[in-house]
Amino acid sequence: MKVGFIGAGKAGFSLGKYFADGGITVTGYYSLHENSARAAAEFTGSQFFGELSDLLKESGVIFLTVPDGAVSSVYGELCKFDIKGKQICHCSGVMTAAAAFPGISRRGAFGYSIHPLFPISDKTESYRKMAGAFFCIEGSFEHLDEWKSVLEGLGFHVQMIDGKDKPKYHAACAISSNLFCALADESIELLTQCGFTRETALTALSPLIRQNTENILRYGPTNALTGAVERNDIQTVEKHLSCFSTDNERELYRAVSQRLIRIAKEKNPQNDYSELEKLLTGGI
Ligand SMILES: NC(=O)c1ccc[n+]([C@@H]2O[C@H](COP(=O)([O-])OP(=O)(O)OC[C@H]3O[C@@H](n4cnc5c(N)ncnc54)[C@H](OP(=O)(O)O)[C@@H]3O)[C@@H](O)[C@H]2O)c1
Repeated sequence: MKVGFIGAGKAGFSLGKYFADGGITVTGYYSLHENSARAAAEFTGSQFFGELSDLLKESGVIFLTVPDGAVSSVYGELCKFDIKGKQICHCSGVMTAAAAFPGISRRGAFGYSIHPLFPISDKTESYRKMAGAFFCIEGSFEHLDEWKSVLEGLGFHVQMIDGKDKPKYHAACAISSNLFCALADESIELLTQCGFTRETALTALSPLIRQNTENILRYGPTNALTGAVERNDIQTVEKHLSCFSTDNERELYRAVSQRLIRIAKEKNPQNDYSELEKLLTGGI
């Protein structure tokens, strides 16, 4: 397997370095800007390519580690050449291989989406922490099992996914990462209304966030759940609902707490949460 990269950004640098260290031949990099591609080539001990056609000639597998919005146009550029027999991969969490690479089988090539379920925040450091990450993959059946073996051989976990489920899969990832940022931000804002600075709010919340995250990961969300909703404490929830200054914030609290009731019912099937449910759905 000889792998070339188009797009010398965070994913390109990190996957290339991880692959090269794992014994896979990385041919080199082509990128929008020559200096990025040269830096990635140096980092991974591979070549800089100034022409797409040269990268294509040298590589059996081409990773398009460009922003999601650029995948189609870069694929269009590749299709100006003969791509027969090549494997073309992208790393988008939401796009399918078929949508990204239309007509690929007619060209005798194979398309894959190979999504690392991992936050790659730094070009040169993130790869060090990637071992054990999950990769979610789908695409042409011809080499799919081979990809599973290759990635597992590199120390990753692999989950095959049906292309039609990718938006749902990506929404799940966003909830656990991006949406959590929104909840943390809301929490910090409420504390600033109580006299905290944003910095002290974050410091004060740190043990709560850390321990709660640890409990969720160790015991699962049901066993980790504590608080007013789980205790069926209607008065406290009423007080919470009265303190928001915008409908938006109140709706956020209501929507998330309704999901908490579902978990609380599972945890405490003997409790009757119907009054609390009415309060949270606006019935009271
Ligand atoms: N970062 C993550 O945490 C993460 C995690 C999972 C999946 N992914 C996926 O990985 C892919 C890349 O994301 P990223 O975070 O690595 O983005 P990034 O750091 O912004 O890197 C993208 C690179 O693509 C290059 N590029 C842009 N347009 C191009 C074009 N038309 N032709 C050639 N190169 C082009 C840019 O190169 P120059 O530097 O030369 O301008 C840039 O360095 C995306 O599909 C993303 O969804 C990212």
